Amino acid sequence: MDYLKLIDENRIPKHVALIMDGNGRWAKKRGKERIYGHENGINAVRETLEAAGELKIPYITIYAFSTENWNRPENEVKTLMELLVKAIRNEIDSLNKNGIKLNTIGDIQSLPKECLEELKEAMNITKNNDKMNLVVALSYSSRWEIINAVKNIAEDIKSDKLNIQNINDSCFEKYLSTTEFPDPDLLIRTSGELRISNFLLWQIAYSELYFPDVLWPDFDKNHFFKAIYEFQKRDRRFGNIK
Ligand code: IPE
Ligand code: IPE
Ligand code: MG
Repeated sequence: MDYLKLIDENRIPKHVALIMDGNGRWAKKRGKERIYGHENGINAVRETLEAAGELKIPYITIYAFSTENWNRPENEVKTLMELLVKAIRNEIDSLNKNGIKLNTIGDIQSLPKECLEELKEAMNITKNNDKMNLVVALSYSSRWEIINAVKNIAEDIKSDKLNIQNINDSCFEKYLSTTEFPDPDLLIRTSGELRISNFLLWQIAYSELYFPDVLWPDFDKNHFFKAIYEFQKRDRRFGNIK
């Protein structure tokens, strides 16, 4: 089934977030090391960006490395970071060609120096691109982000920059790392796991959730189009009634 044909172009989500999961299992099924799965996961990122570009989706967020992923074996973490540097280097021309601006959320200061420099350079090179925003969550966890927000709010109250009475949803959002981006309309997690794993907890309050049974390296354009098609069948009520 070609799902692109079924998509209503008047109801395209503004922001799609993805938890790219299943690389390790994909590699294991092939009798390979986990890193082989991560390497092949980059193709799925490319497919996702191409598909999103065709639908003119302005915001894509991908969960690339969580705060908890630092607990993985040293060797996997190291190779993942090297892979990240390589991927940014290889993809930068294509990001530019497609008008994609690179953004990050997460504790990027904790990344290895080479990785951080490569990222900053890529963000600088793509900063004027305006067709799509790619937000990469790196060393990110939602609780980390929320705790940070609370600390900064407390500081601003202490220094009289903020009045407690003025704390509300939109004020709180200004303290999150996603403040420039709209909330995701759709969150996709691949690999069949039915959990959020500390991703965008505040921001997905009213997102539609979709869990395709495909391992991330196999995720292609048609999987993405199917996700959008499924999203368009949902009835978003936001607590209201028809
Ligand atoms: C997702 O794939 C990529 C990262 C978390 C970095 P996994 O590495 O979690 O693969 P599985 O879930 O073990 O198959
Ligand atoms: C979530 O996947 C993090 C990323 C995709 C970067 P994990 O594989 O780390 O999550 P759990 O351990 O299955 O919850
Ligand atoms: Mg996983």
